[in-house]
Amino acid sequence: MSHGVSVEFKKIQHTETQLKTTGQLLCYKHGLINFTQEQPVQAEHLNFGMIKVRKRIVAISGSTRAHSSNEAILKLIASIYQDVLDVYIFDKLDQLPHFNPDVDEDHVAQSVADFRSLIDSADGVLICTPEYVFSLPGALKNALEWTVSTTVFSNKPFAFIVASGLGEKTFESLELIMNTILQYTIGDHAKLLIQGARAKVKASGEVADPETLQAIRNVADALIAQMNK
Ligand SMILES: Cc1cc2nc3c(=O)[nH]c(=O)nc-3n(C[C@H](O)[C@H](O)[C@H](O)COP(=O)(O)O)c2cc1C
Repeated sequence: MSHGVSVEFKKIQHTETQLKTTGQLLCYKHGLINFTQEQPVQAEHLNFGMIKVRKRIVAISGSTRAHSSNEAILKLIASIYQDVLDVYIFDKLDQLPHFNPDVDEDHVAQSVADFRSLIDSADGVLICTPEYVFSLPGALKNALEWTVSTTVFSNKPFAFIVASGLGEKTFESLELIMNTILQYTIGDHAKLLIQGARAKVKASGEVADPETLQAIRNVADALIAQMNK
């Protein structure tokens, strides 16, 4: 297994007739079977078998711009770790309504309910964002505001990257926000500031600077380590 990621196995009950899964089935009869798409597995294959559960990261780019370098970083991470992780890139920040505490409890829009469930069901969350006028992009801040009254982020494995021109204010601010809603202090390895981002990361995902590429890998590794604890 590449990247030194430990593997979680879940025992399959004899009584299950069918299980929908992605990942790998270790079957005594057929050996290791790969499922790249969610598909049913028949019970005969599951008897005495073990299923490997792939970790699932929800990745959020704070930039809704086409050809965003932040989105490119998330796609790069998805590509580097494709053998061991499912990385779902949430690209609907701009479809969430403006946060309003009056409708926060019972009557939230479907898009908000879906966003909360997505975070809740993720094994880990990764945010990669630029800075706009010395702060988080409004769309990202808005999405986070919709989670504050919930527990979807509580103790969730988390890492973040700020890739921007300068980005220092956003790095500081996002760390404070997330330390609060995660209810723990983000470790040093799970956060990264990339300054001069558009020169270092092309929209194609090419990272010319080896130090930046290694730093991006380190953040992803820190998130994986948290998820495997
Ligand atoms: C309206 C606007 C305001 C910006 N303000 C800042 C800023 O305060 N600090 C900063 O570091 N970069 C600022 N930038 C630059 C962007 O953060 C930078 O271009 C970033 O790389 C864009 O990320 P993206 O490629 O993922 O869209 C600003 C850009 C825009 C469009």
